This record gives sequence, C-alpha cells and structure tokens, in this order.
Amino acid sequence: MAVWYSLADTILSRLDAETAHGLAIRALKSGLMPGDRGADAPSLSVTVWGRRLPNPIGLAAGFDKNAEVPDAMLGLGFGFVEIGSVTPRPQDGNPRPRLFRLAEDRGVINRMGFPGQGLEVARSRLAARARRGFVGVNVGANKDSSDRAADYVACSVALAPYADYLVCNVSSPNTPGLRNLQGRAQLTDLLKRTQDAIASKPVPLVVKIAPDATDDDLDDIVAVCRDLRMDGIIVGNTTLSRPPTLQSGRREETGGLSGAPLTTLSTDVLRKTARRVEGQFPLVGCGGVGSGADAYAKIRAGASLVQLYSAMVFDGPPLIRRIKDELAALLARDKVASVADAVGADLR
Ligand SMILES: Cc1cc2nc3c(=O)[nH]c(=O)nc-3n(C[C@H](O)[C@H](O)[C@H](O)COP(=O)(O)O)c2cc1C
Repeated sequence: MAVWYSLADTILSRLDAETAHGLAIRALKSGLMPGDRGADAPSLSVTVWGRRLPNPIGLAAGFDKNAEVPDAMLGLGFGFVEIGSVTPRPQDGNPRPRLFRLAEDRGVINRMGFPGQGLEVARSRLAARARRGFVGVNVGANKDSSDRAADYVACSVALAPYADYLVCNVSSPNTPGLRNLQGRAQLTDLLKRTQDAIASKPVPLVVKIAPDATDDDLDDIVAVCRDLRMDGIIVGNTTLSRPPTLQSGRREETGGLSGAPLTTLSTDVLRKTARRVEGQFPLVGCGGVGSGADAYAKIRAGASLVQLYSAMVFDGPPLIRRIKDELAALLARDKVASVADAVGADLR
C-alpha cells in the first residue's frame, strides 16, 4: 500500500493542484484506492448526536463537493465524511487557477467559489447509496442568489433525508458577502428558517464558522446557537489572515488559507467557542490537523469530532491511519480511556 501511495503522490504533487484533485476523485471512484483495513482502537470510538462512530477523525467539506465518493472516503478510515458545499443550482465557481499548494508551509490557498453540480445531482447520488457510515451534508448559497437564506433552506429540505447531519456553511470567504450571514440578525433568520423547514425530518443541524471570528462575533454566534438549540458548531473554515511566517511565493494569492498555518488560530478560536458553549452541544474542530497531536489538541480544546482536508493534499490517505494511531497512543499515554473523557480537558 505504501509503495502504491508514494508513486501516486509523486505523480500528483507535480500536477496543478486542481487537476491532481480530479484524478484523486477518479481513482477513488474506480475502487483502485487501497482502503484502511485495520481496526480502530476502542478508545477512539465516540458517540455524537446519538450515533456511535468508530473514530472522531472526519473528512472536511470541499474535497467531495458533489457527493461522488463518500463511501470510498469512509473506506480510507475516516470515522465520518462531510460532502459539499452543495448549492441549489450548478455553478462554475471562480476562474482557474484557484487552488494553490504552499508546499514550504504545508498550507493551501483556495478561492474555488463553490463550483459544483448543484442540488439535484448531489441528491440523486446520495439517494442511490446504501446508508452506511456517517455522512454529513454541507450546504451553501449560489453566488447570484437574491435570497441566500432561501438557498440554505432549499438544500437542507432536499438533502435532509439522506444526511446524518446538515451543515450551514456561512463562512466560505470566496463568495462575496457570504460571511455576513454570521451576523446576529442574519444568522438567526437563516438558522430559524432552516430549522423550521426540516422540522418534519429532524436531522442534527450545525453551523460552520470562520476562524477569523472576533470575540464579539463569537459572543453573537454562540448566543444565537444556544437560543435556537442548535446541534453543533464547526470551527472552522479557511482564514483570510496570512501569518507572517509564511514562506511560499504563493502566500499573497487571494482566497482562504488552510493547512498547517491555520492550526493554532483555529484551535484557539475553537477553545474560545467552547468556553461560550459550556457543553450545550458538541463542537467539531477543523483547521490544520495533520497529526494525532493536532487532533488531540482540538479535542482537549472542546471538540467532540475533528475534521481535516489540507494535510491529505501533502500526505495522502495513509495520514488517516497515522493520525488515528497517534491519537490512540496519546490517550493511552495520558491514561484517558476514551475520546469523550478528553473532550474539553484544557478548559477545566
Ligand atoms: C480546496 C478546498 C475547498 C474547500 N471547499 C469547502 C466547501 O465547499 N465548503 C466548506 O464548508 N469548506 C470548504 N473548505 C474548507 C475545509 O472544509 C476546511 O474547513 C478548511 O480547509 C480547514 O481545514 P484543513 O486545514 O484541514 O484543510 C475547502 C477547503 C479547501 C482546501
């Protein structure tokens, strides 16, 4: 398996990042990608929203925007997979190139702008799969929409029957104005309308926020989510900030930065969110996870689940097994019996 992956890695890392991504999806669809056959350590098992998952490491949104390979990704060893962001109508997104590897920094900048095949294609793919594993559906808005909240409602209603959880992504930096939906009044309107619309098909509903949220923003977002009894918050999306330590010549590309340069910022914002949430609902930690230690730090900062995307661009699928083994070893080292016992340990 290692030889197969290092050969594939060498080829993929020389290609334009988006072309490499397209080839990876094709390989996953073909079934040629070797899976993770090892069992997960019992300490990694977590129960969230009433469902038991084999491990807390998930695939973040954006890798499988059109729900082409959720089961193949589960087969690589992820404990759960999030597809999307799905928009109501198909759209092209921004002109290429729009995805850049910052190899020296182990970071990625993207300004994709929600390219996707739209709701109907995602729905038919999700409807055709056998319901196995834990698959979340992340929804967004079309760029030219006149009522963006209505887009979230439309996608949520149509996809709730096929989703183990739904995510309102109000934090992509690549659709102008989208992040304004994180403001108190707009967020309340959007989430309330979505909750009401899916009331007959209850699915855990969570919101995904930006790691650039200020303390005041977090006060508002958490107050809204607590008032509405939301089921969770994902912290978070890519950042518009550029740490001064970035080395890559691509660092000034427009877009959201992810990967290793985002680790500390996103874990800090997760911790601040967790202090405000006070255990009222689970949190998902996302941003710059590339090791078991990164995942453990997010869990100790208050995350019940963790997600990643960018680190896989550099390390490929073997990373998933490595992170799980490292996390299990860290729990054993600290004599912590389960992930649940470590959630929020740094807040106490
Ligand atoms: C190429 C790319 C596309 C993305 N597309 C989406 C998206 O459609 N919806 C979304 O909520 N997040 C999207 N994200 C953000 C990721 O889900 C994640 O929040 C972010 O990259 C931080 O995690 P990471 O450092 O592990 O990559 C995208 C990220 C990348 C790199």
